[in-house]
Amino acid sequence: MTPHIECQKNDIAPLVIMPGDPKRARYIAEKYLKNAKLVNSVREEYGYTGFYKNIRITVFSSGMGNASMGIYSHELFKFYDVKAILRVGSCGSYCKNININDLFILSNVFSNSNYALEYANLNEKLMSSSKILNDTIMKTAEELKINLESITGNNVDAFYNIINESEVNKYNCKIVEMESFALFTNAKVLNKLCSTLVTVSDNLVTGKKLTSLEREKSFDKMIILALESIIKI
Ligand code: HPA
Repeated sequence: MTPHIECQKNDIAPLVIMPGDPKRARYIAEKYLKNAKLVNSVREEYGYTGFYKNIRITVFSSGMGNASMGIYSHELFKFYDVKAILRVGSCGSYCKNININDLFILSNVFSNSNYALEYANLNEKLMSSSKILNDTIMKTAEELKINLESITGNNVDAFYNIINESEVNKYNCKIVEMESFALFTNAKVLNKLCSTLVTVSDNLVTGKKLTSLEREKSFDKMIILALESIIKI
């Protein structure tokens, strides 16, 4: 047990799918996992462990932001022997020509967050995800005929932020999200596997947003890709 996770070590699978929203964790577990068992509900941050195509998987919500993701991914990696965490989230788009519903894999994130400095004295602004996991996801997307582009994301601590155009342009960040910098930092320090899939839910240039039904449908495509990829790890 940890301050934020109440279950025993063997209640968590080595492979974890991580949405931000606890309701999405429940949705994924109920829709896609066999024999899903609720293993955590501390602070209503739900974790479920079950089977996808006979492979044991845990779906665990991260909450919003680097601070919350930092706590859960650290505890899962360090105290529950988790081998890989694949985040499945939403993001905002900085580009007019990126459509709502488009799916991306984040090979890197650029961030001004202090998370890496505070966590491990790492003075880095660019943090990478794991190449072997990314390659597996790209290959799986091709097999499933899912359009997937690998990009650098901008990671922010403040949802209501002032966009730093020169930095965003310098690193060619096409999207913005709030959790991957902490996840990638923890995985790097603890020598674990990580990646992030994001679906565009808001276009910050045009102001277009997903309806709740569209959100659910596009989310399903991302979840299937995440599950089909992680079982190969
Ligand atoms: N900013 C940051 N994170 C997000 C956004 C956004 O506009 N949309 C979805 N996640």
